[in-house]
Order: sequence, then structure tokens, then C-alpha cells
Amino acid sequence: MKRSEVNRILAEADAFIRSFGYRLPPFAYWTPAEMKARRGEISGIVEARLGWDITDYGRGDFGGLGLFLFTLRNGNAADLTRGKGMLYAEKAMISRRDQLSPMHRHNIKAEDIINRGGGTLALKLYASAPDGSIDKEAPVVVPTDGVMCRFEPGGILRLSPGESVTLMPGVWHAFWAEDADVFIGEVSTVNDDVTDNVFAEPVSRFSKIEEDEEPTHLLVSDYERWLG
Ligand SMILES: [Fe+2]
Repeated sequence: MKRSEVNRILAEADAFIRSFGYRLPPFAYWTPAEMKARRGEISGIVEARLGWDITDYGRGDFGGLGLFLFTLRNGNAADLTRGKGMLYAEKAMISRRDQLSPMHRHNIKAEDIINRGGGTLALKLYASAPDGSIDKEAPVVVPTDGVMCRFEPGGILRLSPGESVTLMPGVWHAFWAEDADVFIGEVSTVNDDVTDNVFAEPVSRFSKIEEDEEPTHLLVSDYERWLG
């Protein structure tokens, strides 16, 4: 993706999120220079990979295959082993109308996907076969706001604003917005996007950025190169 496209998507996402009366935390608005200057005090942001995250899954067609994410909080993987502590994470996301997030599952993370407002959020669901692959035969059962819902393989769950689903590790899911863009919340187990996304088709979770202008704000995938 070109940096100019990332900057534009980021500005549009901020306006969309604000239209729901929701506000991102202060560090969302720091410039790259401010982040560099404060590097000594922000390891909690850098190491937990909090912040802006825009992906076209490496395919170069953000409108067709892509997702906007902002990680608001993220716990510590070591706490999972200990069985106590900060075991949770939260993201704000935007799925644009007819913009697909491709079929994937997680090994560790359970996630609640919440329609916070906008259009209808559609999720295509499959269960996992014993080897972890997509089970094309078995039904899939998911809790939706406390109510168990059963779907045939590849069935589509539609969430209206206010509705949510809990996806346990192993549940295959792809999602997109119908009729209008959707502001999505994600509340989950500690999140590691580098290791815990298993995709059905080869895609890359983070996009390569072509630097054609200065970044307005850094993406989490910029931290290593820009901040060390
Ligand atoms: Fe997911």
C-alpha cells in the first residue's frame, strides 16, 4: 500500500469512528516524531502493539480485501501461561461495505465481534476438522449475545448494530459489511497478530508500505523500523 493511501484511510476511519461519539486514546494522535521522542516511556504501547493497523492483506485492493483496525489495549502472553493477569485485548475495527476480511481462525484467541453501528455485519462460519482445516460437513455453533446459534457449514450470520458473536479458537470466519460500512468492536483474549492468524488462502496479515509521503501516524507494523 502507498503511505498516502494509508494516511487517507486513517483520516476517514477517525472521522467515521467519531461519528458514533467514540474517541480513540491520546496516543492515536501522536506524530511519528512525538512517538520517537517519547520512546523511553511508551514500551507499553510498542510492545503490546497498540495503535493503528491498516491492511490490504498484501493484495493491493483495500476496498475489496482489507480491514481497518485500532488496537486499544492488549494483555501479556506470559500472563496466559500464568493463568492470571491481563489476559484480554480490545480493538476498534471498520469493515467497509462489501470489503472482505478473508477466511481465518485463531489458535489461542477467543474473540467477541460486536457490531457497534452502521450497516449489517455478515460473517461466514465453519467449524474446524480435527486437523484444524475447514470442516465442510459439520455444523458450527456459536454464542450470539448469550443465545446459541447453529449454522450449516459456510452459513452466514448477520449482526445488526448492537449484536455480537463469540468466536472460540478454531471457528473459521470471514466477514464483510453489507449495505453500509460497519464500526466493529473486538473484545478478545490476548492478541498476537504476528503468530495467531491462520488463513485459509495465502495472504499476508501486514501490508508492505510504499513511502510516497510522510506518515501522519505510525502503524503498529511501522514500530520496529521507526522506533526500534
Ligand atoms: Fe478473527
